[in-house]
Amino acid sequence: MTNAQKWIALFLLLFLILLGLTYITEGEYTDDAVTEESTENNLLSGEQIYADLQCANCHGENLQGTEQGPKLFNLAKNWSKTELINYLRNPKDFGSKERIKELKEKYPDSFMPEFNNVDAKKLGKLAEYLLSK
Ligand code: HEC
Repeated sequence: MTNAQKWIALFLLLFLILLGLTYITEGEYTDDAVTEESTENNLLSGEQIYADLQCANCHGENLQGTEQGPKLFNLAKNWSKTELINYLRNPKDFGSKERIKELKEKYPDSFMPEFNNVDAKKLGKLAEYLLSK
């Protein structure tokens, strides 16, 4: 083998090793992510989800409301669990409801964000927590 051939062989070997490594780590990444997320969802309480999603920034740590958002007491009076989950995912769909219109006028400098990228089970737990208050 000439020197040049040796270098080529060495590079080829390195390339194959790298390719193998990417393949292995990719597989591990998705597996871990799935199990981690489902374990996390099972362990988190509604209260923790409320904190994690930073609802408190606008609705207060004890659901008491702030200048950026209304208090979240007695929600069961106005929401079923399914409706509330839908609202959290897509508040814009509820813009024509009289009560939501009034809330919007009361908080003109703020708005209720969409949480449609949050796992449905998580939102279910969050809704149950809110409806129990
Ligand atoms: C950036 C501020 C902000 C954040 C963050 C926020 N909200 Fe809101 N939320 C609002 C505002 C403002 C309203 C009033 C309606 C509107 O403006 O669309 C509202 C309305 C609501 C309502 C309806 C209240 C009622 O009386 O029916 C619920 C329920 C609610 N938010 C829950 C949540 C939850 C749960 C989270 C976290 C996942 C959250 N919000 C995060 C600002 C916020």
